[in-house]
Amino acid sequence: MPVDFYWRMAMEGDQPSLRRKGAASRGGFAKDATGGLAPGTREGGPDGYSHLDYLAEVARATETSGFVGALLPSFPHTDDPWAAAAALAGETSVYRFMVAFQPGFLHPVQAARMTASLQVATGGRVVYNIISGGGGPQQLWWGDKVDHDDRYTRTSEFLDVLKGVWYADRPYDHEGRFYRVEGGGLPPSLSGQPFPEIFFSGSSKAAIVAAGRHADHYLSWLEPLPSLAAKFDQVREHCAGIGRVPRFAVRLDVLARETEQEAWEEIRRGWARPGPAATPAFVGLGDSVGWRRGQDLAGEGNEDDGHRALEVSPNVWGGFHVLRAGPAFGLVGDYRQVAARLDELIGLGVEAFVLGGVPHLEEAYHVGERVLPLLRGGAAGRGGGS
Ligand SMILES: Cc1cc2nc3c(=O)[nH]c(=O)nc-3n(C[C@H](O)[C@H](O)[C@H](O)COP(=O)(O)O)c2cc1C
Repeated sequence: MPVDFYWRMAMEGDQPSLRRKGAASRGGFAKDATGGLAPGTREGGPDGYSHLDYLAEVARATETSGFVGALLPSFPHTDDPWAAAAALAGETSVYRFMVAFQPGFLHPVQAARMTASLQVATGGRVVYNIISGGGGPQQLWWGDKVDHDDRYTRTSEFLDVLKGVWYADRPYDHEGRFYRVEGGGLPPSLSGQPFPEIFFSGSSKAAIVAAGRHADHYLSWLEPLPSLAAKFDQVREHCAGIGRVPRFAVRLDVLARETEQEAWEEIRRGWARPGPAATPAFVGLGDSVGWRRGQDLAGEGNEDDGHRALEVSPNVWGGFHVLRAGPAFGLVGDYRQVAARLDELIGLGVEAFVLGGVPHLEEAYHVGERVLPLLRGGAAGRGGGS
C-alpha cells in the first residue's frame, strides 16, 4: 500500500523561524512585510503579486517532487483554505487540497454544497482535515462558545448531516441536537461526486470517539514514538469496539540535510538566537488535550539547555515550537536517518504524512527530492484516491 505524503501549506505566510531570523522571505502574508523577495513587496506597496502566488509556487514545486497534495491549515492568523484551494486548483493538475475547517463554523448543508462544487471544479481533489478547535480565546475569536466535548458532539452530528445530504437519493430529513434539515439534498449537477477522504485531528477521548465514527485517517501531531504508539493503540481499541479498523496519519516538521552535522547546525543556529519565536495570538491558551500532550512531552526548553537535550530518541526532536510557532516534535538528521525514522513510523501503522518545514519551498525540495526516494520499498506514492 503506497503511503501518501502531503506538504503543509504556509497559510499564515512563510512564518519567521529563529533559524532564519532577519532573512528575506518569499512568502509573507503580512501586508507590511519587510525584507520580502516577492515582487509585491519590492517597492514597499502592493502591486498585485499576492501570498496566493507564493502558495501556487509551493503547490507546483511539491506536486512535482513526490507529494500528493497539501494540508491547508486554518487559524485566525491565516488565509482561508476553501478560497485558496479553489484558486490553487487551476495552478495544479493532480494535487489534492486537504482543507482544514471547524465544522462548527459552517452549516453542514452549505459545507456539502461548497465541497461538491469544489469536487466538480477540481476533479475530485478535496480532502478534509476535520478540526474541532482548541478552545479558549481563539474559539471566541471565531464566535464559538461551545465547550470542548460538545464541540466533538457537534462535529459528529455535522458529519452525519453532511453525509446525509451528500448521499441522499430522496429528500433528506434530520432532526438533531445542533441541526435540523427538511427535504435536503444536493442539486443533480453536484451529486454523485466522490466524498472527500476525512483526516480527523484531536487527542482527547471525545476526539477519539468522533474520529472512530467518521475518520478515514486519525491524524496526530508527532510525539515520541512510544507515546504515539500508545495513542494509536487507544484509537485501535476504541475502533475495535465499534467494528472499525482505523488508519493513521502524522503531521510533523522535517529538517533534513546531506549530513547530520549540517542538519543540527541549522537547528543550533536558531537555538542560539535570543528570544522566543514570534508566536501568533491565542497559542496555548485553550483546552486542547493534544497541544498540552506535545508541550508536556517536549518539556520547556531554554537557550541554556542545549538543543540536543530535546532529542528524545535518535532524530526525534521536541524543540520546533521554540524556533517557530507550531507543534513541538519533528525529525532532524541526514536524508537517510530521516527516511529511516519515517519508515519506523510506517511500521507503527502510519499510512499518510503531512510534512512541513520553513521556508516551505526550499525545505519541500530537500524532503521531496532527497528523503522520500529513500523510503523502504518506495513507499511514497500517489496511492488511493480522494
Ligand atoms: C495535525 C493537526 C492539525 C491541526 N490543524 C488545526 C488547524 O488548522 N486549525 C485549528 O484551529 N486547529 C487545528 N488543530 C487542532 C485540532 O483542531 C484540535 O482542536 C485540537 O487538537 C484539540 O483537540 P483535543 O483536545 O481533542 O486534542 C490541529 C490538530 C492536529 C493534530
